[in-house]
Amino acid sequence: MTENSTSKVVRGLKGVAAAETRISYVDFNGFLYYLGYNIDDLVGRVTYAEVAYLLVHKRLPNRQELERFKSELVSSMRLPDQIVDSIARSPIDSHPMDILRTEVSHLGLYDPDGEVFSKETNIRRATRLIAQVPVIVATIFRTRQNQPVLEPKDEFNLAQNFLYMFTGRMPEAAESNVLHRYMTLHADHGFNASTFAARVTASTNSDMYSAITSAIGTLKGPLHGGASEKVMDMLDDINLEQEIEEYIMGLLDDQKKIMGFGHRIYRAQDPRTKHLRGMVEDLCHRERTMRLFKKCFQIENIVYSRKKIYPNVDFYAAVTMDALGVPKEYFTPFFASSRISGWVAHVIEQYEDAVLLRPESKYVGGFNIPFVPMENR
Ligand code: CMC
Repeated sequence: MTENSTSKVVRGLKGVAAAETRISYVDFNGFLYYLGYNIDDLVGRVTYAEVAYLLVHKRLPNRQELERFKSELVSSMRLPDQIVDSIARSPIDSHPMDILRTEVSHLGLYDPDGEVFSKETNIRRATRLIAQVPVIVATIFRTRQNQPVLEPKDEFNLAQNFLYMFTGRMPEAAESNVLHRYMTLHADHGFNASTFAARVTASTNSDMYSAITSAIGTLKGPLHGGASEKVMDMLDDINLEQEIEEYIMGLLDDQKKIMGFGHRIYRAQDPRTKHLRGMVEDLCHRERTMRLFKKCFQIENIVYSRKKIYPNVDFYAAVTMDALGVPKEYFTPFFASSRISGWVAHVIEQYEDAVLLRPESKYVGGFNIPFVPMENR
């Protein structure tokens, strides 16, 4: 049997560039760029809507373009009644990420642009998804709390509306400011697993809802976006400050991974961590946040001294979400509500690249094994 010439296995696709992209660049020295802009120059200086526009339109908007984009986002925030009803009927013990994945797929049945697949319709679809994914998340939470599902407010931007529709109260300026920064930091990150999953689906010329459904299913795993919920499980598990060292060393002795640490690409600090750590510090006037922050800081030092690895985006994101009053099972849905802007941008770029993403595998099974009829097995 001849072996295919290109069947060299690169385990986990480490170090493989699967396509070209202009959208974002993850520099292993600890820098992250969106369309060439260093995120350190964006965080805190732009709203999340500006970042979403940048990713989808590949340039920063001027004032008028941003106003138009913001009103397009707010007017897209109403979900079809069928989606709201379906959320209400989902099993009470299902995880919000599973409901989100199901309802994004469901949303595809009610797309006002139907089967039209032009660049303009895909940009409209992308804009609607950027607006609607956070609303699905807010609707899941409100429904489960037996609280009314709220309408967005025209005068609010996307992050403010997200917080308002989730919590049911007017967000304080400091809180929406934190959410803008959180969403900016989570908007895109090269060919991470969920973005790659979206691009694989888009590469078959499948529709955007299918691609985003693939991405949500991929983000959910604890090695990816699901890590932040696990970080909070760990912080909840450690009761006393004195226990921290024993707890972390115990996990490492058992060869277990510490959630929220390590990264496939960065060899230096994840550039998002310092911003998230700073945001948590800003919220430390809350007693619970201060307690969690102290635990995190200690864990960070222990893990670094033992393994020389740094926290990734999910570590301090967990405490940021907690400080905003978001329950831990909604941490990954908030991540998805931010990464949606990167996903749709990559889906559109993949359509333009127009190449099927289809790797080979290295077959390690047998050949020409004699067939044994059923009666002789
Ligand atoms: N805890 C302890 N050791 C770790 C960790 C960790 N979190 N991450 C990596 N290592 C060690 C690992 O044991 C290995 O050590 P050695 O060479 O001695 O065997 C080395 O670092 C390389 O790890 P790897 O698992 O081969 O690296 P990878 O590139 O395949 O995995 C990762 C990257 C993110 C899956 C991994 O670091 C991990 O599982 N982290 C915990 C889960 C997590 O926080 N995920 C979020 C990822 S970043 C944001 C996102 O995508 O949402």
